[in-house]
Amino acid sequence: MNNNLLVVGNWKMKLGLKESLKLANGLKKKIKRKSKVEVGICPSHSSLYPVAAAVRGSNIKLGAQNLFWEEEGAFTGEISPSMLKELGCELVIIGHSERRQYLGETDEMVHKKTRIALENKIMPIVCVGENLEEREDKKTDFIIINQVTKALQGINVEENDQLVVAYEPVWVIGSGQAINPEDAEHVHRVIRQTLIDLNPKEVVDNNFRIIYGGSVDSDNVTSFTDKKLIEGVLVGGASLKAEKFVNIINAIK
Ligand code: 13P
Repeated sequence: MNNNLLVVGNWKMKLGLKESLKLANGLKKKIKRKSKVEVGICPSHSSLYPVAAAVRGSNIKLGAQNLFWEEEGAFTGEISPSMLKELGCELVIIGHSERRQYLGETDEMVHKKTRIALENKIMPIVCVGENLEEREDKKTDFIIINQVTKALQGINVEENDQLVVAYEPVWVIGSGQAINPEDAEHVHRVIRQTLIDLNPKEVVDNNFRIIYGGSVDSDNVTSFTDKKLIEGVLVGGASLKAEKFVNIINAIK
């Protein structure tokens, strides 16, 4: 069972090579090697290789923001799981709402990407979340159950596989105003029950973590991670400055 809380920074398309290296070097200096918190960073594809070299020897895990669902072939502009492995990636964000919204990423694509990530022993962080209209229409639970089921149904989880589901309510991302932690906890419970409907309970306990994302910072992080069902956070804006990101990690220790 993986009891460690997970803190992952999603740098989105916000940092170039120089800025990424500066941030990676800053994090390596500030994040202690021995920590119960598992830390990951997800730079742009163009910065993965140098950032991998920069954080080597630390316990910071490298992640990508996307991958393609085939091993190789005529797929212009895409990046395969083995290419990510070669660069040192141990985790990958899949199905972020920005990709669903702007790149037309469907539940079926999310499923195929999750499957191939696991086959390549890259930990998938599968993002799910409702938009504001869906929340106001009281469809949140329905949307979440549907997204989690379509992403994970039929995927065979093996003994050492680690999977993460990130609940990111679309309407709070980048807003500076996180969701009420009790409301997040409710959705985490819905996700956990959906996972239990799809897998034996031991598999859910041993192989899955459910984390929260959306306007997390060092002031509000423990209001989420203090909840038993919230096993970490996915951080956007507050992961772009070394000090802010480290403050989040230190706050939850
Ligand atoms: P913010 O932390 O900037 O709201 O972004 C959250 C997010 O989208 C992480 O994937």
